[in-house]
Amino acid sequence: MYVAIAGASGYTGLELLRILENYQGIKINQVTSRQYAGRALKDVFPVFNKSKNQNLVFSQELDFKSSDIYFLCLPHDASLEVAKQLYDNGKTVIDLSAAYRIKDSKIYPNYYNFEHKFEDLLSKAVYGLPEVYRESIKSAKLIANPGCYPTATILGLYPILKNNLIEENSIIIVNALSGISGAGRHLKEDFMYPEGYSNVYAYNLTKHRHTPEMEDVVKNITGKNISIRFTPHIIPISRGMLSTITVEVDISKKDLKDLYYQTYKDEYFIRLQERPSRIKEVIGTNFCDIYVDYDEKNKMAVITSAIDNLSKGASSQAVQNMNILLGKPENYCLQHLPLFP
Ligand SMILES: NC(=O)c1ccc[n+]([C@@H]2O[C@H](COP(=O)([O-])OP(=O)(O)OC[C@H]3O[C@@H](n4cnc5c(N)ncnc54)[C@H](OP(=O)(O)O)[C@@H]3O)[C@@H](O)[C@H]2O)c1
Repeated sequence: MYVAIAGASGYTGLELLRILENYQGIKINQVTSRQYAGRALKDVFPVFNKSKNQNLVFSQELDFKSSDIYFLCLPHDASLEVAKQLYDNGKTVIDLSAAYRIKDSKIYPNYYNFEHKFEDLLSKAVYGLPEVYRESIKSAKLIANPGCYPTATILGLYPILKNNLIEENSIIIVNALSGISGAGRHLKEDFMYPEGYSNVYAYNLTKHRHTPEMEDVVKNITGKNISIRFTPHIIPISRGMLSTITVEVDISKKDLKDLYYQTYKDEYFIRLQERPSRIKEVIGTNFCDIYVDYDEKNKMAVITSAIDNLSKGASSQAVQNMNILLGKPENYCLQHLPLFP
């Protein structure tokens, strides 16, 4: 099985290379990058010295024929075109961008600044959140790997959504914190060391791309129109993400906790916690650490959900999806624990 990584010089592409290092039965035969084309992986990124892929050479263009599975770690508008061509060539695509995540194509011009030209393919793409859509993923040809904030948030909410405990037209409050790698590996003033280090700030307060993605999934699971009031923040760590969710539900604290344990009892990658989740405990892993509590005075569930944005929020979730496609155990090659402390 030959595997291609398009956009392999970015943070999610490099994380894929790290995770796939010991994956048996596949061979990575292409990695693309325009700026590093012609150079070997280990020469550009010395962290891969001694990797079995150390001599892989970045290519400028993606070859649409020579691989079987294509991971797309590209900007959304670039993935849009590439995924379509690969799909038409009969290839299996796991797209880490948002190009095929949201079923309503009208969202794209408004939130992503491009028209979605491939509505037919959009309707065929499967949202790659295994804990929710495992059955559909098994036979998918195009997997839209979820965004990082939506992964943390939807997994944090799923037992409540699945059991339809939220009223139509309610609002779910989500405050989330992200490490700086969430923005990708390119220069931007806000992320320069003197400005990012020792600083915390909110951004995109009323219009973030992940809001319609989360609302789409919530609607798909519950069949109801429910709004997400989402406020993201950047914090001075390189990777990791914490989503704190507050939502009105009429239930006892014991029943709420039981619901979470029942829903997630067979999920390897969900770790229910006895105290609020901590980012450091999931770094470099595919785990999602969830803590649930109940504010009896206000009748509100309060949930914390921690993931690594580059792992469960992107690349290790993409490998989890590949495991499902290939019929391997879902945690194959994904069983490592975080560094601690
Ligand atoms: N970072 C995260 O936490 C995260 C989480 C979930 C999903 N995602 C999504 O995953 C995708 C990749 O994210 P990232 O953080 O890895 O981004 P990144 O660090 O900026 O890397 C982007 C990669 O794509 C290549 N590239 C950029 N523009 C291109 C174009 N027009 N055509 C072909 N190749 C191009 C870049 O290399 P060259 O410029 O050298 O070609 C690089 O290899 C994005 O869609 C992002 O939204 C990211």
